[in-house]
Amino acid sequence: MQKSFGKRVLKWLGISFLSIFLLVALIYTVVYLSTQNRIDKIYNVTVQDLTIPSDSLSYEKGRHIAQNRGCMGCHGENLAGKEVFLPPGSPMGTLVASNITSGKGGIQYDDKDWIRILRHGVNKEGKSVWLMPSHEFCHLSNSDMRALISYVKNQPPVNNTVPKKEIKPLGRLMVFLNKFPCYLLSSSIIVKNMQMIYHLLLLQNMVLIWLPHARDVMLKPTQVHRP
Ligand code: HEC
Repeated sequence: MQKSFGKRVLKWLGISFLSIFLLVALIYTVVYLSTQNRIDKIYNVTVQDLTIPSDSLSYEKGRHIAQNRGCMGCHGENLAGKEVFLPPGSPMGTLVASNITSGKGGIQYDDKDWIRILRHGVNKEGKSVWLMPSHEFCHLSNSDMRALISYVKNQPPVNNTVPKKEIKPLGRLMVFLNKFPCYLLSSSIIVKNMQMIYHLLLLQNMVLIWLPHARDVMLKPTQVHRP
């Protein structure tokens, strides 16, 4: 009698543990697939045609922009990789700002690659870079962008191999819940911002077309300057 009671308890314990395990496995599968889908998303962007200058004035202007925009803050004074966001062994994953010179462990970028990453946050594979704040540089004027690229592409090659990036289950869960410190995928932010601007412009045009009074109010500042 007592034995069969013990057996029943064991059986129910077993079923409970199995159910919890299956539930956790199911949740993690959803988290994994959803984050991997975002990480592997290919952005087919049309890369702007910009001629990158090679004069010393543009180079100096570019150095200034790179400094102001924090390139050296993350990638180091020599741009060979510095800031450790997630050290190897962290439960969230591994992420170190890359060596962006053409030395060993660095990158082989042509002008189009530079424009693609700085305007769209998209790397050579067509995927979003991780934690690299391209959404803060994407709107630079053409002249500033030319100067910036003229500076960064002409840095002496430095050999430095940073640890390979990786995201672990805890990191994925944070990305899934949008609780990852700041953002992970800059390209998705750029796309979202563009969509927001598009909708705002659409809304503004609708207001301008359909509400003549609003049109008067909104256009007033420019009318002040008219003769
Ligand atoms: C907040 C820190 C941060 C700042 C500021 C930053 N980067 Fe990065 N950058 C990163 C990280 C992290 C990576 C690695 C991303 C990856 O491998 O997915 C990276 C990667 C890159 C890459 C290499 C992408 C590849 O194909 O592997 C380039 C090029 C780059 N950054 C250029 C720049 C330039 C130019 C600036 C300044 C305008 C800049 N970054 C500013 C963090 C930063």
